[in-house]
Amino acid sequence: MQLTRRYRFSASHRLDVASLTPEENRRLFGKCNNPYGHGHNYVVDVTLEGSRDVSGQLAGRQELDSYVTQKILARLDHKNLNADVAELASVTPTTENLALAICAMLKKEWPFRADLKRVRIAETERNIFELEAK
Ligand code: NI
Repeated sequence: MQLTRRYRFSASHRLDVASLTPEENRRLFGKCNNPYGHGHNYVVDVTLEGSRDVSGQLAGRQELDSYVTQKILARLDHKNLNADVAELASVTPTTENLALAICAMLKKEWPFRADLKRVRIAETERNIFELEAK
């Protein structure tokens, strides 16, 4: 059985690869390369897989919310992804890289019986990324 819980945060970023020229970056990323960045309202679906505990749940909702808030939302919401997040310091904050970072941040100290199965992150209505956690 799987449980998916949905979370939201807002953050800014600028897509720019330091080893490329300004012209190459503009061609590659278009307006996502604008010098002063731009924001997104990200939607993150966290999926757990496992069996029910004595309460009949895969995981307590309050415990899950508390963990995701502490590990993800408190660190990403209203932040600049290029500058404020250690896990993204050495990479371009594409949503592909953001999904990998979120998955690693959740796995570290994962406290639940049920496994972390998948992280799905929507950057816009049309840009959606899924990462299997195992
Ligand atoms: Ni963007």
